[in-house]
Amino acid sequence: MKKRDFLKTSAIAASSVFLPQSLMSQGSAQKKLRTAHIGIGGMGYQDLKALISHKSVQVVGLCDVDAIALDKVGGEFPNAKTFKDYRVMLNELSDQIDAVIVSTPDHTHAPAALMAMEKNKAVYCQKPLAHHVTEVRAMRKMAEEKNLITQMGIQVHSFYDYKLATLLIQSGIIGKVSRVRAWSPKNWGYDGPYPKGTDAIPSNLDWNLWLGTAEERPFKEKIYHPGNWRKLVDFGCGTLGDMGVHIFDTPYNALALDVPKTVKNKCRKPNGFGYPENNIVTYTFPGTPYTTDQLEWIWYDGKGAPLSHKELRLPNQDKLPLQGAMFIGEKGRLLLPHFMEPPRLIVNGKYSDIDIKKYDPKGKLGLTVNDYERDAPKHYHQFVDTCLGTDKVSAPFSYAARLTETILLGVIAGRFPNKTLHWDSQKAEFKEAAANAFLSGKNRDF
Ligand SMILES: NC(=O)c1ccc[n+]([C@@H]2O[C@H](COP(=O)([O-])OP(=O)(O)OC[C@H]3O[C@@H](n4cnc5c(N)ncnc54)[C@H](O)[C@@H]3O)[C@@H](O)[C@H]2O)c1
Repeated sequence: MKKRDFLKTSAIAASSVFLPQSLMSQGSAQKKLRTAHIGIGGMGYQDLKALISHKSVQVVGLCDVDAIALDKVGGEFPNAKTFKDYRVMLNELSDQIDAVIVSTPDHTHAPAALMAMEKNKAVYCQKPLAHHVTEVRAMRKMAEEKNLITQMGIQVHSFYDYKLATLLIQSGIIGKVSRVRAWSPKNWGYDGPYPKGTDAIPSNLDWNLWLGTAEERPFKEKIYHPGNWRKLVDFGCGTLGDMGVHIFDTPYNALALDVPKTVKNKCRKPNGFGYPENNIVTYTFPGTPYTTDQLEWIWYDGKGAPLSHKELRLPNQDKLPLQGAMFIGEKGRLLLPHFMEPPRLIVNGKYSDIDIKKYDPKGKLGLTVNDYERDAPKHYHQFVDTCLGTDKVSAPFSYAARLTETILLGVIAGRFPNKTLHWDSQKAEFKEAAANAFLSGKNRDF
């Protein structure tokens, strides 16, 4: 789906949304988005269900390195071809698919998504966009150069409460924002040793393909697959990459931030295998129209997060929501729970009513009551409709890459506890040369 291959329809020309030629070539009567899915056992199955709830999606290819997942989901889609190697699927189905959905562990996002984009496919990629800074930059570059339709899987992006918070902040409800505090008590860290020995590789799993570009190592049960890879530096991005991306999203978007200038992570010493169990990450960002000259952002994760602070104290001694963010501005504070709870305005230590009609007089933000089952598919449908030429994605790689880079810089700072690292976005390097070793991965041939 190269830019030059796109045809603008007259109805959508103004919003510069393109209709991929592959869809046009099917004829106007049959505008189906033909999808191929990589990783369908965990979140990938939710992604698949959300996508097929759109009437114009046709699942053509399914790929998983775990035969149990592949057989189960393959059985539900008898017309789709099944594969265990995404490279084989993308080559074999290249002419039969329009979009690729990447829902694998984080270390495989970039290799799979880049291959799909090389073939000019639209890509829906789970969060965080990738495992390394060099990868997110390459993904953004390719998506932009080829003008491909892309979306990162932060499905709560379009929920009412987040859109409302964005509108309120950008309307100046608390004036210019000087600080954001955000938190999650979840812990995707691990302080165990590098595992010794090897376990038998289950017959259903292709371990070499699961490792993909990551360095070869013996298989160990319950350490890597499924899910636990999140805790490990070679595969996931810890709690920042798991919950952080969702919780960062609204303040990051509302304040129109770019990548930070400095980052410091207060955490335990790195062990080279698992992420720290508690991270307190302090970023400074250059100012934007919605912030003071500089913005400070403090993230807390792990057991006990966040540490108490007067800026997190609520009126009536109310308990802080388990996860969320607090904007601190010149005229007050805005609390944004995560998730499906409305933002709350706090002025002079007291809750203050928000006259929503004043900010959204025409009710453009939509239904005020959230319902996860009803609302989560919207983000997926937006991707499908953008591919069909009738909508515009809200979390394309141009946005997702900046947000993920910010997350990844905090992850890298965890290798240098308590040290302030200075990021040069133009050069894509740290002033502290030792930190640059963590900007990219090894890229094994597999
Ligand atoms: N947006 C959300 O709310 C949300 C929620 C959960 C997970 N996620 C994201 O989804 C992704 C997957 O997470 P998960 O919890 O499903 O992990 P998981 O380990 O439970 O499942 C991953 C699936 O991908 C398969 N897989 C692994 N490597 C593969 C490869 N090279 N090719 C094909 N299939 C492969 C596995 O066999 C498994 O079926 C992660 O990036 C995670 O951050 C997003």
